[in-house]
Amino acid sequence: LLAARFYHERIVDHYESPRNVGSLDKTDPRVGTGLVGAPACGDVMKLQMRVGPDGVIEEAVFKTFGCGSAIASSSYTTEWLKGKSLDEAGTIKNSDIAKHLKLPPVKLHCSMLAEDAVKAAIKDYQQKRRELGGEAATA
Ligand code: FES
Ligand code: FES
Repeated sequence: LLAARFYHERIVDHYESPRNVGSLDKTDPRVGTGLVGAPACGDVMKLQMRVGPDGVIEEAVFKTFGCGSAIASSSYTTEWLKGKSLDEAGTIKNSDIAKHLKLPPVKLHCSMLAEDAVKAAIKDYQQKRRELGGEAATA
């Protein structure tokens, strides 16, 4: 309730009803996992995405141990990811997340965590595909 007075309603909404909380099997070759931490505050975010045969992200989930802004950022980001290609997903910018949620300046690093998590998940996915030797969903 206190938060509602200081934070924009979009943050509060994502914080109180976070979308896509959960885990995917990280050994699944279609799944990319990003696990990142914020040195500033010690918060940790795990973000996972499953990529369909057409290279489009069909599922995105997260688990965040952190503040409301970090939870809201991951919730919004997983919503945003669904239906995007990996290339599109790679263009994610923390400033867009922050703008959408209207994060206050001191909370910008929380949205940075979401950007880092997405990039780490993409990297993990691509590395898996390489290890599997070709037949990647994306070139
Ligand atoms: Fe990270 Fe809020 S400072 S939990
Ligand atoms: Fe550190 Fe939000 S205060 S992620």
